Amino acid sequence: MDKIIIHGGKKLKGEVVISGSKNSTLPILFATLLSDEPSIIKNVPSLADIDTTVKFLNFIGKKTVKKGNIVRTYSSCKYKHIAPYDLVRKMRASVLIMGPLLARLNRVDVSLPGGCTIGARPIDIHLDAFKKLGAEIFVKGGYIKALAKGGLKGAVINLKFPSVGATENILLSAVLAKGRTTVVNVAKEPEVEDLVNVLNKMGAKVNGAGTEKIIIDGVDNLRGFTHEVIPDRIEAATYMIAAAITKGEIVLKNVVPKHVETIISKLKKSGLFIKENETTIRVKWVRGLNPQNIKTETYPGFPTDVQAQWMALMCLLKGHSKEEETIFENRFMHIAELQRFGANIKINSRVASIIGVDKFSGAPVMVSDLRAGAALVLAGLAAEGETVVSRVYHLDRGYELLEKKLKKLGADIKRVHV
Ligand code: EPZ
Repeated sequence: MDKIIIHGGKKLKGEVVISGSKNSTLPILFATLLSDEPSIIKNVPSLADIDTTVKFLNFIGKKTVKKGNIVRTYSSCKYKHIAPYDLVRKMRASVLIMGPLLARLNRVDVSLPGGCTIGARPIDIHLDAFKKLGAEIFVKGGYIKALAKGGLKGAVINLKFPSVGATENILLSAVLAKGRTTVVNVAKEPEVEDLVNVLNKMGAKVNGAGTEKIIIDGVDNLRGFTHEVIPDRIEAATYMIAAAITKGEIVLKNVVPKHVETIISKLKKSGLFIKENETTIRVKWVRGLNPQNIKTETYPGFPTDVQAQWMALMCLLKGHSKEEETIFENRFMHIAELQRFGANIKINSRVASIIGVDKFSGAPVMVSDLRAGAALVLAGLAAEGETVVSRVYHLDRGYELLEKKLKKLGADIKRVHV
């Protein structure tokens, strides 16, 4: 089990290249199952979740090879229709196997994914949508069995919540359904738009990405594609906060400022100097920042995946602030660990109230989930003394070359294998 050791107090300075988006790459990899032609996906981050998905695709019957930051898929042989527990339990996004296999095989058996630390993570919205598209769904022996006798048929689907995964699963199935599917109250995240761009490159007919309503006209088959994945906006937000919390200056390269405009405006309001152009964002600490309240929302609101990192920063700013988590029911696991640094935070249901403290003292801390881990690393970078972060495998799921990138920015950080 690796650990990360940080000696904090160093101002981070320099340039960091933001990697491709994990949450865009995953649905795009599953989209390759929709065609028997080869595809090439570029700017793919080297992360545990990507490796898990590559293994998954090969298991299902789609030959997939990752070399550096490029993934190539080859023409498929007969797909298996069963997604076993030992693959699904490793990564919740495995549920995205349902859309493509229902579309191609009219059937799929997928192990119930189980919850995770940030919540129960049900998939009822996914399953209701598949029923509307003509699939029968039942649960047997820990597996969800979906069967679409006669194939999927277009439908009107009103989502009770703009679920990112459910929107992606509908897209990954309705593109090959018979007729038109209209989906209302869809997720508007950039990762959904990136998936739609790929599907349309494959010959699908999808309109309305980024708006409340998406219209999909089913086609008979789809071709291979070449695509470069968008930059990871959550990684970008994490490095912007790293500049703020260490009172440094960082230039982020290979970013889409529009995708992080909510973070940019909050940080500017707090007093950080930020200058953005086409593909870079320069972030410079110039004076003491003032705390800003946040409430997590679906895109383009403040992202839930940045809530923990934001909290680490708020803990060290003079004054009070509040954070309301509206997306997940249990996404405050980082608070107990931040309190080990000396943070002053109180929780009342889904609202955390933070009173800024003068400093953090380094401490041994444990990562509970990917973004909580990022918050603990940020806290360690700002803390006086040594911080030892354990269970860093959570971080390896979502942050490519984390210690290398931070070390290059001047952090005193190293990974030890214990
Ligand atoms: C995606 O998860 C992301 N993962 C998450 O990022 C992100 O936090 C989340 O969207 C919200 O933006 C990937 O893209 C791989 P949801 P997803 O379906 O699709 C409830 C990270 O750190 N819900 O939009 O699972 C659900 O319980 C990860 O990279 C239902 O109730 O998110 C949650 O409370 C963490 N029923 C809320 O909706 C459903 O059928 C948002 O979930 C589906 C979801």
